[in-house]
Amino acid sequence: MADTLDPARPAAGETVAHAAEVRWALLVGAIIAFLLGMIVYMSLHWAAMPPVRTETIDPATLHLSGEFVEANLGAALEDDGSVTVRLLANQYSFTPSCLLLPADTPVRIRGTSADVVHGFSISEGNVNVMLVPGYVSNFEARFARTGEHLMPCHEYCGTGHAAMWARVRIVGKADFAQRAHGGRRVSCVGQ
Ligand code: CUA
Repeated sequence: MADTLDPARPAAGETVAHAAEVRWALLVGAIIAFLLGMIVYMSLHWAAMPPVRTETIDPATLHLSGEFVEANLGAALEDDGSVTVRLLANQYSFTPSCLLLPADTPVRIRGTSADVVHGFSISEGNVNVMLVPGYVSNFEARFARTGEHLMPCHEYCGTGHAAMWARVRIVGKADFAQRAHGGRRVSCVGQ
């Protein structure tokens, strides 16, 4: 009883409460400091990074010359063992309409649109790409297993949007290498 009556000495309960308040204040302070530090770190990190590389292309001459002429579309084996697949979107199809790709291999997807904004996703490999006229989309993917997948256009592009899709066939590495031998552009159209 003497404790509570002496104004110079706080009660034991008050001491405990005060200690708890200080602990929580320190914890909240530490969380705020961590969040602020994260913001500062991310800002400096982003400011120090080079700007995103944007590749532009003239949609009017796609079919005449350059990377996206018909003969260059499809998947190609690179010297380093990786694969580059090039595709073109237009209302309302993808070219090629069936992508043939190897499993367990780094795949670079390069694509663009000849008319309006299209896009596609492939559930396997977490692929989700937008194809914008005037720009080349560049995406890296890897497919763990062989199999067949649908590749629907996921950007509303006109009355035929719902019918715009392609197929993706993932085959074994050796099988792919055999088909793509000699720098051939391969696809599974008609197969
Ligand atoms: Cu192409 Cu929707």
